Amino acid sequence: MMDWTDRHCRYLHRLLSRETLLYTEMVTAPALVRGGALHLLDHDPAEHPVALQLGGSDPQELAQAARLGAAAGYDEINLNCGCPSDRVQSGAFGAVLMQQPGLVADCVDAMRAACDVEVTVKCRIGVDDQNPEEILPEFLSRIVAAGCTRVTIHARKAWLQGLSPKENRDIPPLDYDLVHRMKGLFPNLHISVNGGITSLDQVEAFLDAGLDGVMVGRSAYHAPADILATADRRIYGQGSDSSAEAAVQGMLPYIEAHLADGGRLGQITRHMLGLFAGRPGARQWRRILSEGAHKPGAGPELVETALAEVAAAQDVAAAG
Ligand SMILES: Cc1cc2nc3c(=O)[nH]c(=O)nc-3n(C[C@H](O)[C@H](O)[C@H](O)COP(=O)(O)O)c2cc1C
Repeated sequence: MMDWTDRHCRYLHRLLSRETLLYTEMVTAPALVRGGALHLLDHDPAEHPVALQLGGSDPQELAQAARLGAAAGYDEINLNCGCPSDRVQSGAFGAVLMQQPGLVADCVDAMRAACDVEVTVKCRIGVDDQNPEEILPEFLSRIVAAGCTRVTIHARKAWLQGLSPKENRDIPPLDYDLVHRMKGLFPNLHISVNGGITSLDQVEAFLDAGLDGVMVGRSAYHAPADILATADRRIYGQGSDSSAEAAVQGMLPYIEAHLADGGRLGQITRHMLGLFAGRPGARQWRRILSEGAHKPGAGPELVETALAEVAAAQDVAAAG
């Protein structure tokens, strides 16, 4: 998620769940290919499995970006057809591509030809006055014909005129039934649903109802332990549960290394603020980190102090 997630966030999420597939925020193909911003591909080996999400609409440029992503070690390359941004100088990208299924198919085709890793698509159910019931099957059949075998559908339209990107994540109504109907129409296409999903109970319900995957965005960011700490066992039937406390301990050496490289504590702790959401001590945890992380010399001790406060608050809650 642009401006929210980054490699530090993914490292934290990976400590909470070994099995879930993590995605980068959208990286535009022009930034990689024309801008040479290869640092945008940097990631830690611990993040795997991790997909690189690309934005763009020029098949050859996307092919080159996919090649760079695959060479950098990403496990999947995903094409963004859901971001409700306006056209940019470098061409159309994101949700506006819902209007150009033929071009999307050309992009998928070129990306697949350029690299050996799987090429997937994230899309909306339509944009503006499109009729999702009509255009989504057409869109999906075009990308399937181009060799895409996995898609994530954000189950609402994007309104390209009149709504901000933030409003476009909440205001257009969710239509999960349509996603289920697409699974009926495309039984061999791996379909994940996205949008408004806030608990593993909901995730399980979608999987039980026949969908192949579920993507969780904002809830996984705001309350990562709630979504991720039990996902390996509950969703994948693998391994044992993790915990927010264990993830904090796991972050300490990573923080040390980041600071030794000249990084700042706040660049990492900003992703950790929601770790104890809804639990005793959550407020103290957030406060200590958000007030202290930007002070000169702040380091892992601050995180340890905040963790001790959480433990104390939990002792009090357990006693009371
Ligand atoms: C701050 C922010 C940035 C986002 N950036 C991206 C992005 O780069 N690529 C993408 O596919 N979706 C992006 N999204 C959309 C989410 O991936 C997701 O589709 C949307 O929030 C609905 O799912 P949710 O209700 O689980 O959050 C972003 C969402 C937010 C809140």
